[in-house]
Amino acid sequence: MTALDPADAAFARDPYPFYAALREQGRPAAPVALSNGTSAWLVTGYRQARTVLADPRFSNVPAPKAGRRTSEGTTAGARSVLEQHMLNTDGAEHRRLRRLASVAFTPRRVDALTDRIAGLTDSVLAELTARAERGGVVDLVDDFAFPLPVLVISEILGVPEQDRLDLRTWTYRVGSPAGALAPGELDQAWQSLHRYFSQLIAEKRRRPGEDLFSLLAHDDDEAALDDGELLAMAFLLLFAGYETTMNLLASAALLLLGHPDELRAARRDGDSGWAAVIEETLRHASPLEGTTWRRASEEVDLGDGTVVPAGASVLVVLAAANRDPAVFTDPDAFRPDRYAPGGERALPHLAFGHGPHVCLGARLARLEAMVALPRLFDALPDLHLAADPGTLPYRPGLLVRGPRTVPVRRAP
Ligand code: HEM
Repeated sequence: MTALDPADAAFARDPYPFYAALREQGRPAAPVALSNGTSAWLVTGYRQARTVLADPRFSNVPAPKAGRRTSEGTTAGARSVLEQHMLNTDGAEHRRLRRLASVAFTPRRVDALTDRIAGLTDSVLAELTARAERGGVVDLVDDFAFPLPVLVISEILGVPEQDRLDLRTWTYRVGSPAGALAPGELDQAWQSLHRYFSQLIAEKRRRPGEDLFSLLAHDDDEAALDDGELLAMAFLLLFAGYETTMNLLASAALLLLGHPDELRAARRDGDSGWAAVIEETLRHASPLEGTTWRRASEEVDLGDGTVVPAGASVLVVLAAANRDPAVFTDPDAFRPDRYAPGGERALPHLAFGHGPHVCLGARLARLEAMVALPRLFDALPDLHLAADPGTLPYRPGLLVRGPRTVPVRRAP
């Protein structure tokens, strides 16, 4: 069986050759031995990915320790409460939780955030420009791609500004493989998140604000969320909502800096050009490398002769499916024109997933990118990379993917 260490730095920087090799061996869904001693089925083919994500026989309800890292110490309680969110449920329970959260993500509510996102982007860029003008190197992750989605999701959750950096640290840690962290860090992060959101919920119940979270905390619906479910919902929105969008912004900026012709074309073509850049970045540098784990509740034939055994842990690798050469011509190339009007009409990418758990925040993520990216390059049209892109460190693990830093400076 092929072996994989998800914490390996070289794999994190460029996992695509590994996935391509799996697929080329004629195994677009294949068992892989993970470095934590477990094994999992990795789905790297586009067609197989859609099949698995739409098939209710693949359950989202976690099996104890199946294909997952283990956690040390006293974390179990905090972690199990935070993990009771909709992505970890199936069927009627999933529909109930998703329906309750969807009130915050209607097109009307999302589009109403446009001016706020624009205002925030401008203030982030004012600081970034001042720093860049002083001649220094600035980091498009820390100083651009991070603050914006955190602010947006914090507004939705009603999280005060001074707490946002802590939330970022904890979220980063719970999404990392245990092997990539110092002993105890993972435990501490789960407990801190649990404590933080418990206090936030108590506060919202006492003094509701205008945010979505207050709305959920005061929902009179008889199917409304209890405290544990609210905690889990807050965690999911934070976890699903900010790091993914941060990686979309960071990867798009990095790709454009390395493809000046594409940057010029986007700036020339306006909305349709930027929309094509965003779709192609989602495909080429999928911010969620893999979906959450699925478990085969019975033996499943994927229709191509591959039979996944009952009880198997399954990870749909969106980043790999989005580069399946059977679906995308020239899959490793960054070519926004494939999503431009009149382009080759590429099939939709799977970066937001597929099936019942398809991303609830896709419209918001696209909006943030549509607002922020043109503003970045209007404010700083002469940016260039201050490091070799091939050496930039990437986040380890199979779940979230993006550069940890994108150092840039203005042209002299
Ligand atoms: C570029 C940014 C984003 C990407 C690539 C992304 C991707 C995804 C994917 C692939 C899934 C399905 C996971 C699975 O099936 O296991 C998902 C689910 C979800 N996403 Fe996103 N997401 C992004 C941004 C957001 C934002 C901004 C929010 C909300 C603030 C959000 C909220 C959610 C929620 C609540 C789910 C769970 C849906 C369910 O279980 O029914 N996402 N996302």
